[in-house]
Amino acid sequence: MAEPHITERAPTRAYVIHPEIDGAGGNRRAPESALEEAVALAHALPGVDIVGAQAVRLRKAEPGRLFTKGKLEELGLALQQAEAELVLIDGPVTPVQQRNLEKAWDVKILDRTGLILEIFADRARTREGVLQVELAALSYQRTRLVRAWTHLERQRGGLGFVGGPGETQIEADRRAIDEQMTRLRRQLERVVKTRTLHRAARAKVPYPIVALVGYTNAGKSTLFNRMTGAEVMAKDMLFATLDPTMRAITLPGGRQIILSDTVGFISDLPHELVAAFRATLEEVLEADLILHVRDISHPETEEQAADVAEILDSLGVDEDVALIEVWNKIDALSPATRQALRNADRRTEGVQAISALTGEGLDELTQAIDAALETVLSEPKEAATLRLDFSDGRRRAWLHQAGIVQSEQPDDDGLTVQVLWTARQRAGFDAL
Ligand code: GTP
Repeated sequence: MAEPHITERAPTRAYVIHPEIDGAGGNRRAPESALEEAVALAHALPGVDIVGAQAVRLRKAEPGRLFTKGKLEELGLALQQAEAELVLIDGPVTPVQQRNLEKAWDVKILDRTGLILEIFADRARTREGVLQVELAALSYQRTRLVRAWTHLERQRGGLGFVGGPGETQIEADRRAIDEQMTRLRRQLERVVKTRTLHRAARAKVPYPIVALVGYTNAGKSTLFNRMTGAEVMAKDMLFATLDPTMRAITLPGGRQIILSDTVGFISDLPHELVAAFRATLEEVLEADLILHVRDISHPETEEQAADVAEILDSLGVDEDVALIEVWNKIDALSPATRQALRNADRRTEGVQAISALTGEGLDELTQAIDAALETVLSEPKEAATLRLDFSDGRRRAWLHQAGIVQSEQPDDDGLTVQVLWTARQRAGFDAL
């Protein structure tokens, strides 16, 4: 049908296939929820319309085309009916399989790593995020290049030339990629250095840092927005936040904190992407308090929580760091379950049941944050006597802002200030 206003490009019609391979160990998740997560991932791709999805059980992955001949035809029909242009396969697909499937179905294929890379690339906001994603993309391309080449060599088979005509080209491509990767790594080093400087600058802020972490779609951005009143994108999209977003806010009790939102975790992150992902999470290491936001209405909330705990551990987050588990989305539960959870959170230390959407439980959460910080910050404090010049207004203001000044005594050439502070506050002051 001819529409009069075809100014925008029509969205690409995409079909999601989750291959469930028998006996492929470590498959904790039910195929339906794995498929659901894959579809949610696909929704995060810009300009894509999901026109169909299915989980496909396989006895084993066929080396040449992933699926058996029968399955290939059956899926081909489904794709035709759905008029799919792009097929997202939620798993690894070798370059050979990709080529053969693209030919057989007359579609473009993207595998899980390719898909996540596309999303990361679309969402990366900081220089470091962009560089990390480019690096991961190149390294992905490089393996494709090598494997595609092996395949071509086999096709040319029997000629027996060592270093045939294809090799020089592929070698050159590979070298070009390697050089580009080296360049990126160098740029990355510089960016990381600058970031360390920024971080030192931030350490001077006399406020504690509270970091939101959690599984993707758990509701971190929604909670962040509620608490900060800021318009950080909150959509039903994965990775709405690839790079940490930080904002200073005042809690109802008057305490000032910095709230930091982070990228969501996902299960089975392809290993090529781990570095890019971790780079976006290092901020968590500096947090005084971690809020682990969980979608408590999700059927696999326990598995997701276990994944998050594992990643925090592998990042080197100290076990002693104060942490509050935020059980989000209680509005999506039946009234009885909701009440049970609200009762449980009263009994359980370090747990708060809330709805970031309706605001239920938020007052208690902010109180819990305040109390947790009180404990964190009130621990070891020591007294110190400082001398400040009259001209040193900035440092004096810092001390007062941090609320640690006990007394102040002016004399002829400056001020004697008595403070009571924590090691962190002292380090912040020393860095001024
Ligand atoms: P990533 O950026 O992918 O890590 O996601 P996120 O954890 O920041 O999740 P986000 O805040 O974007 O929320 C994901 C979806 O869950 C959105 O559709 C929200 O509207 C919805 N959501 C968030 N909080 C609640 C809640 O308390 N109840 C309900 N019912 N839905 C919520």
